[in-house]
Amino acid sequence: MKKVFIVLCISAVITACGGGSKSGSADSTTAANETAKSAESNADTNANKTGTESATVSSEPGAKLIAASDCSTCHKVDVKLIGPAFKDIAAKYPATDANIDTLANKVIKGGKGNWGDIPMAGHPTLAVNDAKTIVKYILSLKK
Ligand code: HEC
Repeated sequence: MKKVFIVLCISAVITACGGGSKSGSADSTTAANETAKSAESNADTNANKTGTESATVSSEPGAKLIAASDCSTCHKVDVKLIGPAFKDIAAKYPATDANIDTLANKVIKGGKGNWGDIPMAGHPTLAVNDAKTIVKYILSLKK
């Protein structure tokens, strides 16, 4: 009788252990799945972020020069601030060499009269070629 009891005990322990390890492995599978899922959604988020960034902060050299200068104090791409919106400027001037020269000079020297009485301050430290790169970029922004 005592033997049977011991055998029963042992088998009970084994069953308990077996059950335990089974549910344990089920748990770790679920956890692994969850980790995989969250890794996936992280990857998604990163992908989205990269997409948005490349849409807003353009890697265009002209956009970088604008970001490095003070243009954004008075100009935005879509809305008029103190100066006209870059898209309005693009709509007004076709991207011809003559227009690019004229506008690059105006950015460097400053001036007023084409959009109203508020003058644009000059940017005498801006290199002519940088000013042209900026203007080309501005004129490429169509509505
Ligand atoms: C102090 C505010 C201010 C800053 C800073 C500024 N602008 Fe302007 N910008 C203006 C105003 C005001 C006008 C409109 C001038 C006019 O009526 O002719 C203008 C006009 C322009 C035009 C159109 C010119 C024309 O004759 O149609 C371009 C192109 C331009 N800005 C580019 C730039 C760039 C590039 C920068 C940075 C290097 C810059 N602006 C910085 C205020 C500013």
